[in-house]
Amino acid sequence: MEIRELLKKDHDHVKELLEKLSSGKLREDALKTTFDELKIAVTSHSKAEEKIVYGKLKKEEDEETQEAGIEGEIEHGLVDQLLQIMTRSRSKGSTRWEAYLKVIKDLLEHHIKEEESTVFTQLGEHFDAAALQKMGEEMEQEKSKMMKAAA
Ligand SMILES: [Fe+2]
Ligand SMILES: [Fe+2]
Repeated sequence: MEIRELLKKDHDHVKELLEKLSSGKLREDALKTTFDELKIAVTSHSKAEEKIVYGKLKKEEDEETQEAGIEGEIEHGLVDQLLQIMTRSRSKGSTRWEAYLKVIKDLLEHHIKEEESTVFTQLGEHFDAAALQKMGEEMEQEKSKMMKAAA
């Protein structure tokens, strides 16, 4: 699968999980399971994306592309920190936890939107069809490694 198609699929999955978590319809057990699912989906995606996508963008000549790569990594770092705090919280579903959920949802939605506009455009500008296909395959391999490590 072409890298952008693969990223989009993952992003849609993450957005779906965020909607589910913030629907207010989940009880504590389901909240915990869905949150764990989100954590694995986000972490495996982000780590693979950093290696396969951002790693390459940062090596490009123009500053704008490098900056997009760095900005993305910073946002990944923030998401990671929030996920850790939310994991440590004993009362999933508490008012404070729900507030964290709102913040991480906004951040992830913003992040995804930027990737699907800026980063997708840059990928199209710097890489040909064969290279994008190859990146997709590398991303898939990398992700399954992460999933195995997380399991
Ligand atoms: Fe992404
Ligand atoms: Fe990302």
